[in-house]
Amino acid sequence: MSNAPIGIGLLGYGTVGSAVDRLLRARREDVTRVVGAPVAIRRALVRDASAPRAGAPAAGLLTEDFAVIRDDPGIAVVAEVMGGVEPTRTWMLELFAAGKSVVTANKQLLARHGAELFAAAEQHGVQLRFEASVCAAIPVVKVLRESMIASEVTAVLGIVNGTTNFMLTAMAQGADYATVLAEAQRLGYAEADPTEDVTGADAAAKVAILASIAFHTRVTIDDVPHEGIDTLDSVDVAFANDLGYSVKLIGQARRVPAGVVVGVAPTLVPHTHPLSAVAGSFNAVMLRGDAIREVTLVGPGAGGDETASAVIGDLMGVLGTSNSGFLRADGFFRSLPIVPPAEVESPLYLRLDVRDEPGVLAAIATILAEEAVSIDSVVQRAAEGRALLVIVTHPAPEGAARRAIARIAELAFCEGEPVVLRVLPTT
Ligand SMILES: NC(=O)c1ccc[n+]([C@@H]2O[C@H](COP(=O)([O-])OP(=O)(O)OC[C@H]3O[C@@H](n4cnc5c(N)ncnc54)[C@H](OP(=O)(O)O)[C@@H]3O)[C@@H](O)[C@H]2O)c1
Repeated sequence: MSNAPIGIGLLGYGTVGSAVDRLLRARREDVTRVVGAPVAIRRALVRDASAPRAGAPAAGLLTEDFAVIRDDPGIAVVAEVMGGVEPTRTWMLELFAAGKSVVTANKQLLARHGAELFAAAEQHGVQLRFEASVCAAIPVVKVLRESMIASEVTAVLGIVNGTTNFMLTAMAQGADYATVLAEAQRLGYAEADPTEDVTGADAAAKVAILASIAFHTRVTIDDVPHEGIDTLDSVDVAFANDLGYSVKLIGQARRVPAGVVVGVAPTLVPHTHPLSAVAGSFNAVMLRGDAIREVTLVGPGAGGDETASAVIGDLMGVLGTSNSGFLRADGFFRSLPIVPPAEVESPLYLRLDVRDEPGVLAAIATILAEEAVSIDSVVQRAAEGRALLVIVTHPAPEGAARRAIARIAELAFCEGEPVVLRVLPTT
């Protein structure tokens, strides 16, 4: 393993850029192992290096001069996390010409100029990766590009804008559009200017990128007709709900005999459909194909750390495959002990067949308390002098709960073996 750090450049040190710096430093050891050498951010480009900022950039890290990054031979790869179309496009082309690979979070740039940028990267023998440009933490680009090679993808559809999904979830509970937009802005889900989100333009850029990689054909944002939720009346969300549907802003790309159909529109989704249950600011993408049938990926589709995690994944993808890192070798580097399930806390469902007489519940509760197992809920069904008693516990070490259950099974009023099932905790 070499000790010379491999240099990374950042274009942008805002929400995502500062999170990339912080997470790379926090996970220095893991990153070194993946890449096969230490990695260091050498410079980060900003508009105003003297502006106060929340992140804690090292002294001398920030620069206002793009050429410093482009011309630094110590920088092997650049993360573009500044956004916008120009000068970003021009600078990206200059980075390729300088022999540097780029990873980007910029959906608008790719959805407009993808063809030109990929061609330039190929011409100069460098990589352009873009996982963070679609649905932040959800690794949908990697899955579509690398894991679906043996499948003919027939459709990609989903909820690809968290701001509008947050708003629609609230509208389904009766809130009106203006109130939920103000709430989304207060919570930081919606920008001060929410136009891109609420008109569907943000989702359309993501659909263009997803359609391009799913069907191996160039689809630009101009090809994607989009309607947003800005003209949606909450009365229709309520009617749809009464009829058994959620209203979701669905982006989709489908392969049809004549070609590819793409679009973004508010759409009624049956309550029984998996996308109906995707609530709040979460995103979900469904992939359909001949060999895979259906795969759904769900997770946070925005946020500084979530997007930075995808940016770092792409940086590792570039660096970890070109050195002696673990992406080219065995991924195991430690030996963690296997923990017996009995030592892990879980809520349990317990069904007992008992004689219906005074003191039964108290005796059971006493034993559970002695083993430090607390009761969450109790249901009793009586029949002909007997009762079925169902107890759900709070999370407890399984060993203690099973000791308590064995003692309860010994009590004179208990018939047969108690039934014990695990309960999945909510988090
Ligand atoms: N935030 C998210 O949740 C999220 C999610 C998915 C994708 N993205 C994408 O990630 C990218 C970055 O988003 P962000 O939220 O981190 O933005 P941001 O907080 O506004 O940060 C942008 C950074 O780029 C710098 N910058 C912008 N234009 C520049 C220019 N012309 N010259 C030099 N520096 C410039 C800014 O410098 P100053 O600091 O000096 O202003 C700032 O440091 C965008 O493409 C966005 O669409 C973001």
